[in-house]
Amino acid sequence: MMDWTDRHCRFFHRLLSARALLYTEMVTAEAVLRGDRTRLLGFSPEERPVGLQLGGSDPAKLAEAAAIGESYGYDEINLNVGCPSDRVQQGRFGACLMAEPELVARLVAGMRARVTIPVTVKCRIGIDQQDSEADLERFVASVAAAGCRTFIVHARKAWLDGLSPKENREVPPLDYGRVYRLKAARPELEIVINGGIQSLDEAETHLQHVDGVALGRAAYQNPYMLAEVDRRLFGAPAAAPSRREVLEAMLPYVERHLRGGGRLNNIARHILGLYHGQPRARTFRRCLSELAPREGAGIDVLLEAMRIVEGAGSARLLAAE
Ligand SMILES: Cc1cc2nc3c(=O)[nH]c(=O)nc-3n(C[C@H](O)[C@H](O)[C@H](O)COP(=O)(O)O)c2cc1C
Repeated sequence: MMDWTDRHCRFFHRLLSARALLYTEMVTAEAVLRGDRTRLLGFSPEERPVGLQLGGSDPAKLAEAAAIGESYGYDEINLNVGCPSDRVQQGRFGACLMAEPELVARLVAGMRARVTIPVTVKCRIGIDQQDSEADLERFVASVAAAGCRTFIVHARKAWLDGLSPKENREVPPLDYGRVYRLKAARPELEIVINGGIQSLDEAETHLQHVDGVALGRAAYQNPYMLAEVDRRLFGAPAAAPSRREVLEAMLPYVERHLRGGGRLNNIARHILGLYHGQPRARTFRRCLSELAPREGAGIDVLLEAMRIVEGAGSARLLAAE
């Protein structure tokens, strides 16, 4: 998710779930080819498995960008066919590609020819007037014929004209049944449902109908929900880490980032929701959101926020510093 799931966010989320597949923000093929690759593609091996999401509509450029992505160590290449923003439409990619299934098939085939990792597609259930069940089936059939086995489907259509990207995540109604029926019609494909899923209880209900669940805003705003994912959704025996254990495990990573000249807020901004719904969560959030953006903010800000929210126990950590 743009501006959210950067490498620091993913490192943090990985401490909460060893098994969930994490995705990058969308990176355009053009940016991969021409931009600062270390900044755009660099990540820590601890974040894996990670999928690189690409945006674009030029077969040669996307194929090249996918090959570069694989060489950086990504575990999957995902093509964005779901983003409705104007900027993306002007580049003729994102959700507007749902109107061009044959082109998407060519894009997928071109990328698959250059990489050994899976090439997957994230799409909507429809766009504008092209939103019938038959339209979605035609799109999926065409792209699956090019070798895409996995579709992450945001269960609402996008209106490309008239709604902002934010409205397009809220206004068109969710239609989970459409995604369930897609799975029933194409059982050989891996169908992952997305959109409005708020809890692991809801995720478990969806998993009775589809192969996977993609969590966006809920997981970002309340990241601790990821702590139960391994046990509940993957059947892993491990107990969930406590919030405090997760914060403690972040400290060496934050210190390394600061020593390398990075800013505390690059990381702290992703952690604000860790205590969502817990006592003193608001003070934790306020402490971090006020102090972490300041010039020169150091690890002591994180330790202080931790002391506030965890109480006296964390003083030991402070004293050990
Ligand atoms: C801030 C923000 C940025 C997003 N960026 C992307 C993106 O880069 N690629 C993408 O496929 N979807 C992106 N999305 C959409 C989400 O992946 C997801 O499809 C949508 O929010 C619905 O799922 P949710 O209700 O679980 O959040 C973004 C959503 C938000 C809120």
